[in-house]
Amino acid sequence: MQRKLQLNREGEKIMTDTALHHKNSTLDYTVGETILKVQGVNKEFGGHVVLRDVNFEIQDIRRTGITQGQVFSILGKSGAGKTTVASIIAGLLKPTSGTVIGKDGKPIRQGEVGFVFQNYINFDHVTVRGNLLLSAYQGMFREEAADSFNPKMILKRFLTWIFNKKILWEKVEQYLDLFDLRIHVDKFTCELSGGQRQRLAVLCQVLCSSEFIIFDEPFSGQDPEMKEKACEMLIKTSQLDEYKTLGIITHDIDCAVWVSDKLLLMGKETDTATGKPKPGSTVFKPYDLAEHGLAWQDAEVLRMPQFRDLVDEIKYSWFPNM
Ligand SMILES: Nc1ncnc2c1ncn2[C@@H]1O[C@H](COP(=O)(O)OP(=O)(O)OP(=O)(O)O)[C@@H](O)[C@H]1O
Ligand SMILES: [Mg+2]
Repeated sequence: MQRKLQLNREGEKIMTDTALHHKNSTLDYTVGETILKVQGVNKEFGGHVVLRDVNFEIQDIRRTGITQGQVFSILGKSGAGKTTVASIIAGLLKPTSGTVIGKDGKPIRQGEVGFVFQNYINFDHVTVRGNLLLSAYQGMFREEAADSFNPKMILKRFLTWIFNKKILWEKVEQYLDLFDLRIHVDKFTCELSGGQRQRLAVLCQVLCSSEFIIFDEPFSGQDPEMKEKACEMLIKTSQLDEYKTLGIITHDIDCAVWVSDKLLLMGKETDTATGKPKPGSTVFKPYDLAEHGLAWQDAEVLRMPQFRDLVDEIKYSWFPNM
């Protein structure tokens, strides 16, 4: 499937004729193949329905002349099942029924998708340098995970750790300034602030994951300035690699609309026959932010009228109590 769309800065669709292709337009993109397909996912815990028939797809979007991966957000109230669906996508939790299909058309395997947890777990008794080296080391072997326990592989891993620390550190070095961690490399994780810990957790995933990383509540417990920095960091992370896909799990509407190209609203649907909520949450509304002219913007987007209109629509129409 190949579809071509061009939007001007005001978010209006303009002709798709390539002869009129505007090279410098930031909103010029092509939608390609499906890279993630969540199909009929249900999840129960001890007979309690948490997820009901969750379905959505994420497509590969290419921007002309710009390195940019996908960013999608799942937005919902506390207890809506966001972490549950994210854990299923990451292969950390099995659905009661349904499947999650990856880019290769096969069900997602554990380890294929990186996961930055709600409480950013790093190794507390290891320095920032140590955490980053370990992540880069893990990243070197991610393709061989299934074969990791044979003696030859264990020896190879041991020798790599002993003799390749310099190469591993060179890989880490490229990212230290971008993530503002250079002056903290010799601190222990427990000596870092919340924002520094978060940046470390994100960089660890960038180093050890393949192309797909899920962030669970990356904006929670942060003041507005820190939130803006976290949004900028996620945007920069999505621009490290054209193939990088970031999934963001949040209840922060402003941040989700700012950083994403696709937004998925999650919650309970009402049974029209009884007027009562159906058991379990589902994805009940997707928003294509590129079509709204709101994808891939800098912090200026926060002041655009169409940004505020969409945030208000989501808040007042779908989540009045959030
Ligand atoms: N392992 C588990 N066993 C039993 N119930 C669970 C388990 N994990 C989650 N739940 C329940 O599933 C529901 C959804 O939980 P989940 O953590 O996915 O919500 P969430 O949307 O991430 O909430 P929050 O925004 O507060 O993080 C909750 O009612 C929770 O109690
Ligand atoms: Mg959660």
